[in-house]
Formats: sequence, C-alpha cells, structure tokens
Amino acid sequence: MLPIALVLASLAATAAARLSCKVPSLGGGRDDGPAISAAFERCGRNGKVTLDKYYLVDSLLLTTGLDNVDIELSGFLQYSPDIAKWSPQSYFLEYQNATTFWFLSGQNIHMYGGGTIDGNGQVWWDTFNNSHNAGTAGGSSRTFARPIPLTVGNASDVVIEDIWIIGSPFWNNFVYQSQNVTYKNISINTVSYSSSPTANSDGWDIYRSDHVTITDSWINNDDDCVSFKPNSTNIRVSNLWCNGSHGVSVGSLGQYAGETDIVANVSVYNVSMNNAQNGARIKVFGGNPSPTSTVGGGDGFVKNITWSDYTLENVDNPIIIDQCYSTPLDVCAQFPSKVAISDVHFLNVTGTSSGHNGDIVVSLKCSEQCNNITATGTHLAAPDGAAAYICQNITSVQELDFDCTSPTS
Ligand SMILES: *[C@@H]1O[C@H](CO)[C@@H](O)[C@H](O)[C@H]1NC(C)=O
Ligand SMILES: *[C@@H]1O[C@H](CO)[C@@H](O)[C@H](O)[C@H]1NC(C)=O
Ligand SMILES: *[C@@H]1O[C@H](CO)[C@@H](O)[C@H](O)[C@H]1NC(C)=O
Ligand SMILES: *[C@@H]1O[C@H](CO)[C@@H](O)[C@H](O)[C@H]1NC(C)=O
Ligand SMILES: *[C@@H]1O[C@H](CO)[C@@H](O)[C@H](O)[C@H]1NC(C)=O
Ligand SMILES: *[C@@H]1O[C@H](CO)[C@@H](O)[C@H](O)[C@H]1NC(C)=O
Ligand SMILES: *[C@@H]1O[C@H](CO)[C@@H](O)[C@H](O)[C@H]1NC(C)=O
Ligand SMILES: *[C@@H]1O[C@H](CO)[C@@H](O)[C@H](O)[C@H]1NC(C)=O
Ligand SMILES: *[C@@H]1O[C@H](CO)[C@@H](O)[C@H](O)[C@H]1NC(C)=O
Ligand SMILES: *[C@@H]1O[C@H](CO)[C@@H](O)[C@H](O)[C@H]1NC(C)=O
Ligand SMILES: *[C@@H]1O[C@H](CO)[C@@H](O)[C@H](O)[C@H]1NC(C)=O
Ligand SMILES: *[C@@H]1O[C@H](CO)[C@@H](O)[C@H](O)[C@H]1NC(C)=O
Repeated sequence: MLPIALVLASLAATAAARLSCKVPSLGGGRDDGPAISAAFERCGRNGKVTLDKYYLVDSLLLTTGLDNVDIELSGFLQYSPDIAKWSPQSYFLEYQNATTFWFLSGQNIHMYGGGTIDGNGQVWWDTFNNSHNAGTAGGSSRTFARPIPLTVGNASDVVIEDIWIIGSPFWNNFVYQSQNVTYKNISINTVSYSSSPTANSDGWDIYRSDHVTITDSWINNDDDCVSFKPNSTNIRVSNLWCNGSHGVSVGSLGQYAGETDIVANVSVYNVSMNNAQNGARIKVFGGNPSPTSTVGGGDGFVKNITWSDYTLENVDNPIIIDQCYSTPLDVCAQFPSKVAISDVHFLNVTGTSSGHNGDIVVSLKCSEQCNNITATGTHLAAPDGAAAYICQNITSVQELDFDCTSPTS
C-alpha cells in the first residue's frame, strides 16, 4: 500500500501539470488586462501563465498571492498610453509616490521567455516635459502618475530572465519589500523620439529588499542604471553594460529625519559604464536640526560596498561619494550627516572621464568622517590625460592608491 502522503503528493503533481493558462489576445485596441489577471487568478498557484501574443493592457495588473508559478512572456505586452486612466488606477507604492502598472507578488515566481514589456513612455515624457507636473521626486500624483512597468513587490524567491523592457515612463524595475530576487539577461531601452527627454528612467530601484541579484544585462537609459534605495542589503550586481545613465548609485539616503536608512553588503562587479553622469556613486543627505526635516537629518549607515572591475568611458564623475547631498554646505558644516559611510572599496576602476568636471576623476566628500574607504587598481584620467582626486574627511587616505589632490583630510 502506498503511503497516503505519497498518493497526495502525486495527485498534487498531476494537478500542478494541468494548471496552464494561455492568454488570448483580443485585438482591435481592446483591453487584455482582465484576461491576464484572470489567468493569474486561475493558474497563479502551481501553474503556468503563457503570454505569447500581443497584449494591450489598459487596466491594473495586481497579481498577488502567487505561489510556484511560471510566467512565459514570449509575446509583447504594451500598456496603453492613457494618462487620465492610469494615473488614478496605477498601484501606489508609498516610497517616493512611485506607482506601478504591474505589481507582481507572492513566492516562487519565474518569469522568462524572450518577450517585451512596453511602457509606451513617449506620451508621458512629452506631457511631463511640458507640464512639469512633479508631485514628488518621482513626479507622481493621482492626476499624473508615471507608472513602473514591472514591480516585484512583497515577494520572495523570484527569477526574472530573458526579457526586454522598453519605453518606461518612470523607473523600469522596482524591487519592493522583497527577498531573494534575481534578474538575469534583461535588456532595457528607454529612448525618447521627440525633443522631450525621458525622465527618471532608472534601470532598477531596490527598496526594503534583501538578497537581490542583477546580472548579464544591457541598459540604455538616462537615469541610474541601478539604484540602492533605503534598506537594500546583500545585493550582487554583475556583468552589466550601462549606457547614458547616472551610474550605479547608493542613495539618496538620510532624507527624512527620524528614518533609518541602511545599504549594506553590496557587490558590484564587471560593469561597463558608458556616456554616463556617474560611475560609482554614494549620495546621502547632510544633517538637519529639525526633527521633522524632509531635506536631510535621517540616520543609518552605508557599509561594505565594493565596486570591482568597473570600466568607464566618457563619465562625468567616475567615482563620487557625497555625504552632503542636496544640502547647503553651511548646514552640513554645522550638522554633519547622520548616515555613516564605511568599508567602501574600489577595485580596478578604470577608464576616462568626460572632462565635464575638468581633471577631477574622484570626489570623496564626507561631512562626517568616512572610514575604511579603499582603492586599488585605479586607473582613471580626464580626456587630456590629467587626473585630480578630491578627498574630504576620509580617514583612510593611505589606503587609496592615488594621491588626494585637495584637500587631503
Ligand atoms: C507624494 O505626493 C504628495 C502630493 O502630491 C506630496 O505632498 C508628498 O510630498 C509626496 N511624497 C513624497 C514622499 O514625495
Ligand atoms: C505589501 O505589504 C505591505 C505591508 O508590508 C502592505 O501594506 C501592502 O498592502 C502589500 N501590498 C500588496 C499589494 O500586497
Ligand atoms: C531563491 O530563489 C530561488 C528561485 O526561486 C530558489 O531556487 C532558491 O532556493 C532561493 N534561495 C533561498 C536561499 O531561499
Ligand atoms: C537573453 O534574452 C534574449 C531575449 O530577450 C534571448 O534572445 C537570448 O537568447 C538570451 N540570452 C541568453 C544567453 O540566454
Ligand atoms: C520640451 O520642452 C522644451 C523646453 O520647454 C520645448 O522646447 C520642447 O518643445 C518640448 N518638447 C515637446 C515634444 O513638447
Ligand atoms: C549610448 O548613449 C549615447 C549617449 O546617450 C547615445 O547617443 C547612443 O545612441 C547610445 N547607444 C546605444 C547603443 O543605445
Ligand atoms: C531599515 O531597517 C532598519 C533596521 O531594521 C529599520 O529600523 C528602519 O526603519 C528601516 N528603514 C526603512 C526606510 O525601511
Ligand atoms: C552583511 O553580511 C554579513 C556577512 O554575511 C552579515 O553578517 C551581516 O548581517 C550582513 N549585514 C546586513 C545589514 O545584512
Ligand atoms: C560584504 O558584502 C558581500 C556581498 O554581499 C558579502 O559577500 C560579504 O560577506 C560582506 N562582507 C562583510 C564583512 O560583511
Ligand atoms: C574594511 O572593510 C572590510 C570589508 O568591507 C573589512 O573586512 C575590513 O576589516 C575593514 N577594515 C577596517 C580597518 O575596518
Ligand atoms: C584587479 O586587476 C588585477 C590586475 O589586472 C587582477 O590581478 C585582479 O584579480 C583584479 N581584481 C579583481 C577584484 O578583479
Ligand atoms: C569635515 O571636513 C570639513 C571641511 O574640511 C571640516 O570643516 C570638518 O571639521 C570635518 N569634519 C570632520 C568630522 O572631520
């Protein structure tokens, strides 16, 4: 006689094999959102959802409670460019008033398939360019929200691979309150075809998330390639080609008094950074006397961050630490940052700056003392071959393989 547990397990396996939902495409400009949502409702637990057609999505994808699901995205999923409709209906996330078209949530989620998610961003950038309707840092409000194409939120054990994300109105990917999330072989292209620039087109933002891996990916955008927001821990970023971006950035942190922001255990290696504003960057606000400040004064720490095998080409600020970000210098002098920075290592960061800041290729400016900042294998120069290095309140200048040009303490 078979043990009852084994019988149940094999029944479960048979049932699992049956749960498969292929989503048809309505065509004719009709909304495929409800059919996609229904497929996740039916096959989102121990099942598979296949998205192999062209889909126009005009309604929120709030796919929650998923468990052990394969998502084959081999088709083309395009959000409608309907600002009036999406602004109130997109899912609001409290951080920086970000909103999303698709909140993907649950556990054991695998998305793959070679398909594309198209944010249809042009109309959003054109409108943003002319209205500057910026409710927030992110520029979102209930009447003008620029949603994120894909948010992995309240999720764990997620793998997203082999997909394209194009035309994002805002950040491309948001990892929100999640654990153990891996992105592999993702291609991101955010390009405006009008005179309006794209806006806030970060490749990834990570917030309140632990154990996140981003690897083997191609990013062409106009804001951070990857950004580590408050409480990003145990992160590995590798094998990226970033173009036109604002670099791989920690922060900004410490903006809100009374809040504790932590970014720790981040390893970034083998990145090619081209035509960018920044290469490797840490930005934290200075202090502030007000206990309710929203312009600095928060506390926390940035610890154990390593950038290695980092190749730069035409980058304004190849290496930059700013512990007085968006804070007047006199405020920082009186109220140094309460976000401590330590154990930051630059290994084999090489290449050329754009010359945008003259000869400055490294700028390490701390308002409080920063400890254990090290650099080895640094080979950076401005286009004319010269190089200047700024170090302020760095206690470990002897651990830097370049001579600080000014000031030295
Ligand atoms: C969110 O938007 C509201 C209204 O537009 C604004 O008052 C608030 O400061 C914003 N919050 C953040 C965190 O940006
Ligand atoms: C995500 O989790 C937060 C609590 O951490 C909760 O407030 C929010 O409703 C959740 N969102 C969804 C869509 O599950
Ligand atoms: C992370 O998620 C992957 C994919 O779901 C899973 O195989 C792996 O076991 C998870 N790792 C941990 C430590 O939970
Ligand atoms: C990466 O993803 C693309 C589809 O976006 C696919 O064509 C390609 O084969 C994938 N590369 C690898 C190495 O899997
Ligand atoms: C974007 O804004 C600039 C400056 O205000 C303006 O010259 C340009 O025409 C705008 N572009 C579009 C497509 O509206
Ligand atoms: C890289 O960025 C530059 C400057 O933003 C742009 O002109 C170029 O087209 C981009 N290259 C690719 C392959 O997208
Ligand atoms: C970050 O984590 C710390 C420690 O768990 C916590 O005190 C703090 O509130 C968190 N901050 C945010 C922004 O979630
Ligand atoms: C950083 O990694 C170390 C070593 O694995 C671990 O002990 C520590 O808890 C981690 N820090 C955070 C904030 O996750
Ligand atoms: C530093 O972070 C890396 C990458 O997450 C981790 O492997 C390492 O254990 C951490 N080291 C310490 C001393 O916490
Ligand atoms: C510097 O940081 C590394 C890890 O990032 C750590 O292993 C080492 O002990 C630290 N050194 C000092 C002097 O704090
Ligand atoms: C840095 O470059 C040196 C010389 O090319 C090499 O031996 C070393 O392994 C590199 N370090 C890392 C962390 O890649
Ligand atoms: C940081 O540097 C500034 C400018 O050099 C100096 O006035 C200040 O005293 C320094 N603070 C610490 C904690 O070293």
